[in-house]
Amino acid sequence: MQTNFRGRDFIGDLDFTKEEVETVLDVAWDLKRKRALGEPHALLRDKVLAMLFFFTSTRTRGSFEAGMAQLGGHAAFIDSETTQISHGDTAKEIGEIFGRYFDGIAIRQCDWQFGNQYINDVAKASRVPVLNMQCDVYHPFQCLADIMTVIEKKGRDLKKKKVVVSWAYAASYSKPISVPQSLILQMTRFGCDVVLAHPPEFKLMPDIMQQAKDNAKKYGVGFDVTDNMDEAFKDADVVYPKSWGPLLTTTGKEEGKALIDKYKSWITDERRMGLTKEDSIYMHCLPADRGLEVTDGVIDGKHSVVYDEAENRLHAQKAVMALTMS
Ligand code: CP
Repeated sequence: MQTNFRGRDFIGDLDFTKEEVETVLDVAWDLKRKRALGEPHALLRDKVLAMLFFFTSTRTRGSFEAGMAQLGGHAAFIDSETTQISHGDTAKEIGEIFGRYFDGIAIRQCDWQFGNQYINDVAKASRVPVLNMQCDVYHPFQCLADIMTVIEKKGRDLKKKKVVVSWAYAASYSKPISVPQSLILQMTRFGCDVVLAHPPEFKLMPDIMQQAKDNAKKYGVGFDVTDNMDEAFKDADVVYPKSWGPLLTTTGKEEGKALIDKYKSWITDERRMGLTKEDSIYMHCLPADRGLEVTDGVIDGKHSVVYDEAENRLHAQKAVMALTMS
C-alpha cells in the first residue's frame, strides 16, 4: 500500500499511481463507514481549504464544503467574480498568497485551453496542495467517485466488465470534455474493457487517447472506439453516457450547436438500456439534460446509480484531502 501523499497536488488523474488510487479508495471506504456509524474523524482539525470557483457547481461545492467540516476543518467558498482576479491578480499571486493563508487550494477553472494551465500555474507558486475541482482536461475527483461506485456495484475484480463511456445529446451548453477524458484514463487501469462511443466530430484530445491506449496495453484490457451508440451499449456492464462539446472540431458557438443538433438520437432511453446486460448500471456525473440526454425512466429507473455516485464524491474527496493536507 502506497501512503506517501502529504503535500502533494492532485490535478490530473494519473498524478496518483494505480496503487495510490487504491489507497485513496481504501481510505474513502473507511471514512464512508465512519460517517455511517457516526464516528468522529477530525483528521484535518483547524485546517482550511480555499475553494476557488470560476464556474458554477452543485455537487463539487457541496461535497468539498461538507467534507472539510466533517474532517474538523473549514472550506472557504470563493467565487472568482468576487475577487480581484479580473483586476490583475495572477495565478502566481493566488498560489503564493492563498498558499500562505490556507492549507489547501481547490480550483474549478474549465475554460478551454486555459483552465488546466491556470491550475498548474497556481500549483507551481503554492506551498500547499492544489486540488483540481475540474478543468478543461480532467475531472479527477469525479472519476475517483466513479471508480469507487463501479467497484461497489460490480466488485473489485472488473476483469472482462464492459464499461461504455458515450457521448449523449444535450441542448443546454457545450460541456467540457474533462469527464470522458478522466474516465478513459482511470478506467483503463482497473481491469475493465473500456469502449468510447461518440459521433466523429466529438473526439477527445489525442494525447489523452494515447495515454488511455498505453494504459490498456499495460494493464491488458480492451480500449475500443466506435461511432455507434447501440453497438457500444450491447452487453455492457456499465454505461456512462453524457454530453460534451465538439471542442477539438470547433470552438465556435453556433457551429458547435449545429454539430450537437445533428445527433439528437444519442439519448439513453429504455430501448438502449435493453441492449445492455440485465444487471447493468447507468452512471452520470450530473447535471443531466433530462428528456434529451437521458429519459426520466432510465435516470430514475432500476439501472441508475447516480445518487450513490454523487454521494461518493464526498467520501473520495475527504480521503484525498485527509491524505494530502494532514
Ligand atoms: N458532477 C459535478 O461536478 O457536479 P457539479 O458541476 O454540480 O459540481
